[in-house]
Amino acid sequence: MIGSLEIPRSRAAQARLDFVGGLMAFNSTGFGPAMGRYYRDNEDQVADPADIRALGDLMERAPSYRFGAFFERHNHARMFRAILDILEPQGDKARSWLDDCNAPGSLGSLELAPELETPRYYRNIEIHTQPGNYHAEFAGFLYHWMISPFLVGRDDGDEMGWNLARAVPKGDYRRILDLGCGIGKSAFPYCELYPEAEVVGLDYAAPMLKYGHKLAESRGLKVHFTQRLAEDTGYPGGSFDVVSAVWLFHELPGKARAQVVREAHRLLRPGGVFAIMESPPFKVLQERYSPLSAFLLDSTGRRMEDPFLPGFLAEDRVRLFEQGGFSEVRDLALPNELTGWGFGGEYFFGAYPWWATLGVRT
Ligand SMILES: C[S@@+](CC[C@H](N)C(=O)[O-])C[C@H]1O[C@@H](n2cnc3c(N)ncnc32)[C@H](O)[C@@H]1O
Repeated sequence: MIGSLEIPRSRAAQARLDFVGGLMAFNSTGFGPAMGRYYRDNEDQVADPADIRALGDLMERAPSYRFGAFFERHNHARMFRAILDILEPQGDKARSWLDDCNAPGSLGSLELAPELETPRYYRNIEIHTQPGNYHAEFAGFLYHWMISPFLVGRDDGDEMGWNLARAVPKGDYRRILDLGCGIGKSAFPYCELYPEAEVVGLDYAAPMLKYGHKLAESRGLKVHFTQRLAEDTGYPGGSFDVVSAVWLFHELPGKARAQVVREAHRLLRPGGVFAIMESPPFKVLQERYSPLSAFLLDSTGRRMEDPFLPGFLAEDRVRLFEQGGFSEVRDLALPNELTGWGFGGEYFFGAYPWWATLGVRT
């Protein structure tokens, strides 16, 4: 992994990281199924599976849920602390590694905008309890090193980004923009699927972009990273063929979500495609896949400082796209390596797909 290559870890630090990471994964693979069993054994006590509060009352009586919820918050904090304990003593080295960007011979580029202000809605929160949020100096490391155990290693090949990129109908695309690209995981697949295209990764947070730039270069992928706001990018209208976003929308308040959809519409040339991927809406989870998962996503959003997630999962995405001007809007169930949906498995508390929404600019 790039971080461990450039920023050495002692054997003890690695052991601590592995231990905390192993516990993090076990919370999903061990406690998840235990919660699922409890729910299936007791679901007849809930009159309406779409009643998230009633599910909460039931699950609050399950030792597996009570411990898992307590554990999630505290183990996450331990994970971030373990990472910072590696980085902080060699802070200068980590900083100069991050700042060593746009080196001669770089494939891609990094364009920073120091004057860009942090969106107001992130000023007082730490999304996912990540210390300092995405704009703290070591955010890229914190995100990358945490996400692997959090997703039980099932996104180490950027599977989630690949799933959405493959779901975008094939075309002769020249310019592709990934909004909220973070460290680039959701932008990278486009470099391989469309080697002739210019791939742009946009994010408001410089530390994520710096890390993404290093990661892309180390993988031989040509991505142009740029620090801008997804709701007001500053690019000319009609300048992209595809605009995408993976895991951005659930972290935005409702007003910003609507602005980003309108901005994507403005940025696309006629016939261009806008595609996003997230967890399925509550209604879809409850009616088709896993009411317990709806409750767990809602509760984790509240517990883990993802304050806009419940509102987003309650929203009608097709309507959101249509109101932003898109045509031919459709939802699409995508394979989900994490929960096992599409792979014949059922890990965690219940299998469900990733949920894409696609629209066309006419
Ligand atoms: C959950 S991460 C997803 C990162 C990436 N898409 C992936 O799949 O790995 C969300 C990203 O969206 C970025 N973000 C959040 N709000 C944004 C906004 N208004 N404009 C641009 N980027 C934003 C965050 O900085 C973060 O890097």
